[in-house]
Amino acid sequence: MQALSTEMRLQGKILSLVPTMGFLHEGHLSLMHRAKAASDILITSIFVNPTQFGPNEDFGAYPRNLERDSALCQSAGVDILFTPEASDLYGDGYQTYISLESLPNHLCGLSRPGHFRGVATVVAKLFHITQPHIAVFGQKDYQQVLIIRRMVQDLDMNVDIIAGPTIREPDGLAKSSRNAYLTDAQRPAARSLHQSLLMSQKMVDSGVVDVKLIVKAACLLIQSFDDTVIDYVSICHSETLEPLETIDGPALMALAVRVGKTRLIDNTILKPDLTE
Ligand code: PAF
Repeated sequence: MQALSTEMRLQGKILSLVPTMGFLHEGHLSLMHRAKAASDILITSIFVNPTQFGPNEDFGAYPRNLERDSALCQSAGVDILFTPEASDLYGDGYQTYISLESLPNHLCGLSRPGHFRGVATVVAKLFHITQPHIAVFGQKDYQQVLIIRRMVQDLDMNVDIIAGPTIREPDGLAKSSRNAYLTDAQRPAARSLHQSLLMSQKMVDSGVVDVKLIVKAACLLIQSFDDTVIDYVSICHSETLEPLETIDGPALMALAVRVGKTRLIDNTILKPDLTE
């Protein structure tokens, strides 16, 4: 893969990468369209990265279907599908990891210790192997995008990071490979993440700026559904992820909720009306 990318670069081609863990859905396909439009050669990787899963997480159960994914990639115009094995990326004696100092100490990083170390490491490796000019990630994983941008800047990686918008089901649920775990009975609970984000923006529109009040209302809405356990509901600075007390400018609202055994995340930027 690395030799191929080097050769394509020498031919003057612009390369883009959409890194994924497979079990592709419309969210991934929209990232691919975005990448395709901005490059000559679209590379997609499918790799369920063991180093970003904790010991009690769903690495083994993570949904996989390479045959279906390959067909989807072909229809999305992917030029090269890169599907390494774990032993290709983490050979015997592997011991090098990338850790960021403070961005992982918030949101998902608190309940998934080591997760972003695994993500940063594998993304850096995928960048070195595929050598893209552009890489496209989903905004649904907001903290992941921030961490990758920071890593690229800190380590002088020559890759443009583009974030693509969250794609939703008709009922508002953010598309995710993990939605495959949900039963029909759990759908209303799963929908409550998006509903609570919409409700929070409405509260902000009506003049509420106290973060505690908004978070409390969002938690009550989510907890009104059976089978939900809140991991976090946070309103924080959209760049540093530091918690906020009042909303006096655009603020990130991010949440993670377990519906049954399925951990779902979603986010939005809350925008106060600053016209007066
Ligand atoms: O967002 C994902 O699917 C993964 O975290 C990524 C970026 C492919 C790294 O394994």
